[in-house]
Amino acid sequence: MNLFDLVAPIYGRVRLNDEKTFRMIVKFGDFKKTDKVLDLGGGTARIAKFFTDIVQEITVIDASRGMIAQCKKHIGIICILGGAERISYSNGYFDKVIIVDAFHHFQNKEKAVKEIRRVLKENGKIIIEEVDFGKLGNWFLEKLETIAGTKSKILSPQSLVELFSKNQFRTRLVKESRTGYYLIGEKG
Ligand SMILES: C[S@@+](CC[C@H](N)C(=O)[O-])C[C@H]1O[C@@H](n2cnc3c(N)ncnc32)[C@H](O)[C@@H]1O
Repeated sequence: MNLFDLVAPIYGRVRLNDEKTFRMIVKFGDFKKTDKVLDLGGGTARIAKFFTDIVQEITVIDASRGMIAQCKKHIGIICILGGAERISYSNGYFDKVIIVDAFHHFQNKEKAVKEIRRVLKENGKIIIEEVDFGKLGNWFLEKLETIAGTKSKILSPQSLVELFSKNQFRTRLVKESRTGYYLIGEKG
């Protein structure tokens, strides 16, 4: 059992700004009623729950059993226990992939990006919300999260762009606040 399993039952109550994050993602995502969307590392479906009415299919894949148990309490969301590094879907299945506050937890980021590319359609979109507290701040947060048992490695916004560019994504960054930003990418 990891920290996410433990906090899963209260996670939805302590994480605020769900709707604000959803609105930002919608702004960047150009979502269509026919879209199949994957929320990777989507946890309890805190964000995915807003998508049920606006897209054809919304799927959460998350590595925590506890988080997925909470996800399953929502109607209209496909909730799957699994890792970003091995996505159990066929090539080109999804129109869009979203990742909120989770990419820095993925253990093998190279593999995850390759999997995201594989399951996305041609010209499919990836929208990532990530944190950036600067070099020292990120180092400190990584230590805290690792002590808490969640393991994390926070890439700088530029390193995240490089990782996706090298995997043939066209990318852009949007700074959202002093400590948060979005990477928007399109499979080229
Ligand atoms: C901080 S939580 C964010 C959850 C959700 N995206 C949200 O914003 O509410 C990070 C999530 O990433 C998941 N996670 C960590 N490593 C993962 C991996 N390799 N594959 C899939 N999910 C992972 C955790 O289980 C956890 O639910």
